[in-house]
Formats: sequence, structure tokens, C-alpha cells
Amino acid sequence: MSPVISIKDLSKVYSSGFKALDRVSLDVAKGEIFALLGPNGAGKTTLISIVCGTVSKTSGTVLVGGDDNVSAWRRARTRIGLVPQEISLDIFSTVANCVRFSRGLFGKPVDAGFLEGLLKDLSLWDKRAARVVELSGGMKRRVMIAKALSHEPEILFLDEPTAGVDVNLRRDMWALVRRLRDRGVTIVLTTHYLEEAEEMADRVGVVDKGRLLLVEDKASLMRRLGKRRLTVTLAEPLPALPAALDGAPAPRLDDGGRKLALEFDAGEGGGAMAALLGRLDRAGIAYVDLETGNSSLEDIFVGLVGEGTR
Ligand SMILES: Nc1ncnc2c1ncn2[C@@H]1O[C@H](COP(=O)(O)OP(=O)(O)OP(=O)(O)O)[C@@H](O)[C@H]1O
Ligand SMILES: [Mg+2]
Repeated sequence: MSPVISIKDLSKVYSSGFKALDRVSLDVAKGEIFALLGPNGAGKTTLISIVCGTVSKTSGTVLVGGDDNVSAWRRARTRIGLVPQEISLDIFSTVANCVRFSRGLFGKPVDAGFLEGLLKDLSLWDKRAARVVELSGGMKRRVMIAKALSHEPEILFLDEPTAGVDVNLRRDMWALVRRLRDRGVTIVLTTHYLEEAEEMADRVGVVDKGRLLLVEDKASLMRRLGKRRLTVTLAEPLPALPAALDGAPAPRLDDGGRKLALEFDAGEGGGAMAALLGRLDRAGIAYVDLETGNSSLEDIFVGLVGEGTR
């Protein structure tokens, strides 16, 4: 893997004395989608702000495209587009001007064709002459993304890109991120939404209390720790789990006795499901629906950091 971002032993102590990052080391490969997952206050924004140069580090090194982000900050910064967690826009500026202005800050020449393509990509072309103040929250978020992409960066940081965004826009955002990745842009995103990391990321890093607890390929993380789940909807609710079903692996009675839920190892194949269905048939218990799925990153995450750690 050729890292486009290389972080070594990065620590941050804020002037208040609070240690927000504790010796974090991480390499991000060119062209991957990397998700940083962690509860509120874990240090996600601090980490990406340091890489992007908007917060200073206390110790450690950060290389962006091989350039040190302090001693060669200008070259490092040019490679990066940042969509911050908080929306901050000049509300009286038009959409097109906001984006043009951001491009100009990086000394890039005006390129009407590029601007048109970018705004169309983000479904903002029709709004190009609208002032930011006239836009909905979701549109403002897209303007933030357009600004971050205005100087054609190789790496895009998205800090909570879909916080407070409705389901449709979230899906649009995911599609956009994939299109960018297909064009070779490296994406680092932070999220609380486990579903989002699960849906989007090639690799996931879990941060808690300033430490990077693990970094793993999403698929192998799911395989290693993931469980499969079978949910059986019964024709008639059961008051308690019948003895006939009480063998290992035993299902759990859910939803007021209307459903049976069975969890089993993802690597184990269909044996546990077949065994349960066989026992249901032999006990004469009728069912009306079957549903299988993967247990989510959420289960893994809660197992790692515990609930409500902060
Ligand atoms: N400027 C600052 N001065 C002092 N402490 C800060 C400062 N900025 C952040 N912190 C603290 O550092 C810790 C990490 O904050 P950070 O914003 O990086 O977390 P986060 O993982 O992005 O959280 P969230 O999910 O809520 O966005 C928090 O405890 C926060 O209060
Ligand atoms: Mg944050």
C-alpha cells in the first residue's frame, strides 16, 4: 500500500491541558475510503483538523503526499479538501461565487468548465445564482463539499458529512463519495453512523478517548467479529421458549413472543439455521416469515468501546 497520508505518534494536548490525541499512528492508502468511527469527543475532528493544518499538533509527524504538513504546509495543504463538521459559508454570496472564491484561495486559475461540472455533480447547477441564505441545510452542505473540491484536491476529508441529513441526501452523498473515489480521490470521513461506515468504507478506524483502538479492513472486521442473524416470525406468539428449541445454539424470543432471533458465527455456514428450522418443524411450530442479515458494526463497536463511555 502506498500511503497518501502517513501519521506517526501524533499527540495533541489542548491549551486547557486536555489530551485529545494520544500517540495515534495511521497510514491511509491512495484511493481508499477510510472511515473514522468514534463516540462524541473521541478526537476525530482533532485528528483530521491537525492533518488539514487547522489545528496544531503537540508532537508526532504528519506526511501528506510525502510532504510534512508543517514544514511543507503549502504543498501538503493544496492536496487536501476539507468539509468541516460545522457549516460556515458567506450567506450573502452566490453558490457559484463561494466555489470560485475557494478555488482562487489556492491560486488555481478560473475554469468555467470545471465549475460547471462540479456544480452539476452536486446537483447545485440550478442554484448557482442563488445566494447561500436561500438554500436548505442539505444544499448548504453540498456547497461546502463543492468548495472543498474547488481546487481539485487528491484527498477529501469529510467531517460528519451526513449529520442531520435526511435519508435521500445521505444516499446521494454516499453515491457522490463513491464517484469521487472512482476518479482516484482518497476519502477520509468521520461518522457516528455505524451504518455509514459499514456502507461506505474500505477500512475503518475506531477512535475512543484520543486513542486509535483498531484499524481494519471493513470486510475482515465483519468476518472476524461479525455474526449472522436469523429472525423467524411465528404464526402464533409463544409465551416462552419451548424446551424443544432450547438446544445450542438456542434462539431468543423477541417482540413479545412473535419472533425468534438466532445469532450464529458468520463463518459457520447455514448449519445453525437448518437445525433451528428442523426443530421448529418437529415441534409443530408454524412460521410465516424468515429474514437473515449480518449483525452490524454497531454490535462490534459497542463491544469495543462500551456504551456511553463519555
Ligand atoms: N479547542 C479546544 N480546546 C480544548 N479542548 C478541546 C478543543 N477542541 C476539542 N477539545 C476537546 O477534545 C476532545 C476531542 O474533541 P473532538 O472535537 O476532536 O471530538 P470528536 O471525536 O470530533 O467528537 P464529535 O463526534 O462530537 O464531533 C473533546 O473532549 C473536546 O472537548
Ligand atoms: Mg467532531
